[in-house]
Amino acid sequence: MSSALTFEEALSLTSEPLAVFDSDANLRLVNPAFRNALRQFEGVLSPSTPWSVILSEAVRREHLTEIDASNLRMIEERLLDRPDNQPEVMVQLADGRPARATLTRTTGDGFALAFRPQIGKETPDESELEEIMSIVLQACPTCLTMSRIGDGQILYRSPAARELLGKGFNSLAHFADRTERGDFLADLLPTTRVDGMRITASGADGREFPAAISARLIEYRGEDVIVASIDDLTDRLAAEAEIERQEKQLFQLEKMSALGEVLSGIAHELNNPLSVVVGNAHLLLEEDISDDLRTRIEKMTGAAERCVRIVRAFLSMARNRPLDPESCAVEKIIQTATDAFSSSDVSTGIEVSVNVPSDLPDVSVDEVQIVQVLVNILTNAAQAMAASKIDGQIAIKAFRNNANLRIELSDNGPGVPPAIVDYIFDPLFTTKDVGDGTGLGLALCHRIVVAHGGLLELVDQPNAGATFAIELPFS
Ligand SMILES: Nc1ncnc2c1ncn2[C@@H]1O[C@H](COP(=O)(O)OP(=O)(O)OP(=O)(O)O)[C@@H](O)[C@H]1O
Ligand SMILES: [Mg+2]
Repeated sequence: MSSALTFEEALSLTSEPLAVFDSDANLRLVNPAFRNALRQFEGVLSPSTPWSVILSEAVRREHLTEIDASNLRMIEERLLDRPDNQPEVMVQLADGRPARATLTRTTGDGFALAFRPQIGKETPDESELEEIMSIVLQACPTCLTMSRIGDGQILYRSPAARELLGKGFNSLAHFADRTERGDFLADLLPTTRVDGMRITASGADGREFPAAISARLIEYRGEDVIVASIDDLTDRLAAEAEIERQEKQLFQLEKMSALGEVLSGIAHELNNPLSVVVGNAHLLLEEDISDDLRTRIEKMTGAAERCVRIVRAFLSMARNRPLDPESCAVEKIIQTATDAFSSSDVSTGIEVSVNVPSDLPDVSVDEVQIVQVLVNILTNAAQAMAASKIDGQIAIKAFRNNANLRIELSDNGPGVPPAIVDYIFDPLFTTKDVGDGTGLGLALCHRIVVAHGGLLELVDQPNAGATFAIELPFS
């Protein structure tokens, strides 16, 4: 019995993936390590498969890049002349590890292809791990805390957490509202996880801010511990609110222009027939008629005249009076408006306070139209306050808001009910009794302000009277 190993047996003993090619560059044999490490080549590793076929198949199956394949091809071509010092090509083994591919000349002008997996330490030992963890945590931009569930004692916090939440040693203080911590624990305990729960957090300087908390409940040294991250949502929510505000403005603008167009078309059509009704009704009144008939005709004329007023108001609104802008002092515009308001009956008993900083620059506006806007808003406020029998107060504040002049008019009336806030700027929307209002005031104001490149909005302030804000660009 011979004890000599065959070449094939010898190859199968080595754990290094090896393939041997003959002098015609056809595959002679591969060892089991090769088959195992390059399972992805299964099917092309049968004896006599040409080297070139193996390479092109590897490229086709995306295990080798074109460049790597052409490098290997080139190395093989040069093997005969330059058996040493061949460059290496990095490839990826079936298990994902990178490996260096090398070609070595064999006797008989064949060659061997070997793969040397890059051996990196896959798992760092404990002390290295600790070091890595501490480096990662120190650099971690996330607000991370680890605290005992029982007493809230903080066991660890990242630098970002110290910055956002302060240096206190109890995580209970991170909740501005204790009941929210109760809700948080109620979610965390049964499932051991909470993701993105909205809370009001309490920050380093006592500042309360909207936040999202995500957490995992883990065991650490025999105790239940919460690992939590807290995100400050202040900026994100402010940005979302601003986008929502702008979308509302845009929607309002589109709605107004569509509605305005339809209504002014109708008003136009009604104008002539209405004049016929009113004219003939007046002629009838001049006839010798019974008192009963007279009363009826007078009612008819009254109603028809009201229609005429609405139609005229519409037409003047639709006519889009051209702007006649000139530079005006803010204080003067407001003064003119409050004077006009004070001279009307509706202002009786209402106290108007004005606060305009003396250093506000002038604005370029059509003064008559902007005064009309202010008077309309003041009149609405007075009517709302009169309806609810309140000692009326209106505060007018003007200030700079970035590139705009902002004028806020606040009353202490009943405020605008939430159910109608989306409609108050619509033409013809009114909550007043028939004859008291046409519902055109705010629609007209909106149109004028938008024509100035500005905006008119109802400021959201539940349960606190109504505040309307006008913004006009300074230049
Ligand atoms: N300051 C305010 N407080 C409470 N509600 C208001 C206030 N201003 C306006 N509103 C509401 O908005 C509606 C629309 O106002 P708008 O000025 O467009 O029409 P109007 O005052 O009803 O009629 P018009 O102005 O044509 O006489 C009002 O009917 C009222 O319900
Ligand atoms: Mg009005």
